[in-house]
Amino acid sequence: MIKDIKINSILKVPGDKSISHRSIMLSSIAEGTSHIEGFLLGDDCLSTIDCFRKLGVDIRVNTREITVYGKGLYGLTSPKTMLDVGNSGTTARLILGILAGSRLQASLTGDESICKRPMDRVITPLSQMGASFISKENKLPLTIQGNILHEIDYKSPIASAQVKSCVLLAGLYTKGRTSFTEPYISRNHTELMLEYMGGNIETKGRTVSISPSFLRGRKLLIPSDISSAAYFITLALLSKKANLLLKDVGINPTRDGIIEVYKKMGGRIYLENIRYFGREKVADIRVLNSSLHGIEISGAIIPRLIDEIPIIAIAAAFASGTTIIRDAKELKVKESNRLDLIISNLRKLGVNVKGLSDGMVIQGQTLRRGAYINTENDHRMAMSFFICKILSIYNIDIDNKDCVTISYPNFYADLSQ
Ligand code: S3P
Repeated sequence: MIKDIKINSILKVPGDKSISHRSIMLSSIAEGTSHIEGFLLGDDCLSTIDCFRKLGVDIRVNTREITVYGKGLYGLTSPKTMLDVGNSGTTARLILGILAGSRLQASLTGDESICKRPMDRVITPLSQMGASFISKENKLPLTIQGNILHEIDYKSPIASAQVKSCVLLAGLYTKGRTSFTEPYISRNHTELMLEYMGGNIETKGRTVSISPSFLRGRKLLIPSDISSAAYFITLALLSKKANLLLKDVGINPTRDGIIEVYKKMGGRIYLENIRYFGREKVADIRVLNSSLHGIEISGAIIPRLIDEIPIIAIAAAFASGTTIIRDAKELKVKESNRLDLIISNLRKLGVNVKGLSDGMVIQGQTLRRGAYINTENDHRMAMSFFICKILSIYNIDIDNKDCVTISYPNFYADLSQ
């Protein structure tokens, strides 16, 4: 049963997390100064800033813009203390590509969740390129010893932008051309930003190639994060009456799977004022209340909405009919095991869900009681189930709501607006 909610609002959600990380990393190894606007001041991106400061980069933060005084490809210095990536998989995986090429020795650690997540996916290609590692079971904490790297032609078994970005960043430091092929196309923010800053990079289908290049510091404008907008898009679609305008949202075609899925489910979503911030496509997204129905979501679209699956599962629980999600095994190794956690939390609410080895089948409109939701400190679980709580007539409580600071510190304030 759904509450009677009305929304008539204009909102700008914070900057894109993936692009914010990359803006610090690429600016740090560029020549000259970069000015970054729209940066996400969430915990994960602050971890990236902290790590690059420890590598000797001068990064000034104020509320309007971040200034990074680039050190050039070989200007980073060995950190005096361990690099702490906090909860951030993107920080851990991408920085390893840069450390490998910079020929530095560094040790990385992070929180309990990141120390359980697989790092073999980047250790394998970086070792092939010449870096060496000391770790227990290929997890954090670990120590990397960078080296003179050689190019590789890497065929990745998984579609992962973190792995792809790690290899491409290491590829900046080789003599020849490094290429990376993935089974499905994952988000391409690294490629776009590298190109924008002068990198010698080429994409052909599922293969990206990079040749050694020097980057130039630039002014970078970061779009609002479609993954954060997703919570409000879902809330508006499921409200009784809604006209919501989300400003300046990144709609990069490798990230916009949620819009395609919601339109197929019957969502009234319209893109207005389409333009570019640098190489990144941006729009204002208008969302009207809609009647959603279930669909099947699988295959190449999965990497284009991987972080939105928790909130799509909530939408599926309120939609009519059946939603099937497949090919989403990667959800098991996110900030939490999202596959298991979505299923167990939906079941607590009485939703009829069947677990698959790589997804789930959700019977819509079967939510029939309140529950205490376990987030395992996963920001996307907390925000998704908070939207569920707002929409539901039942009493839903959520543990550790504060973990939203990882990607969206003002989430609750923006919701109350
Ligand atoms: C990210 C890539 C995705 C995504 C993560 C951010 C990135 O992870 O889930 O939240 O910024 O490159 P994978 O590359 O592991 O799929």
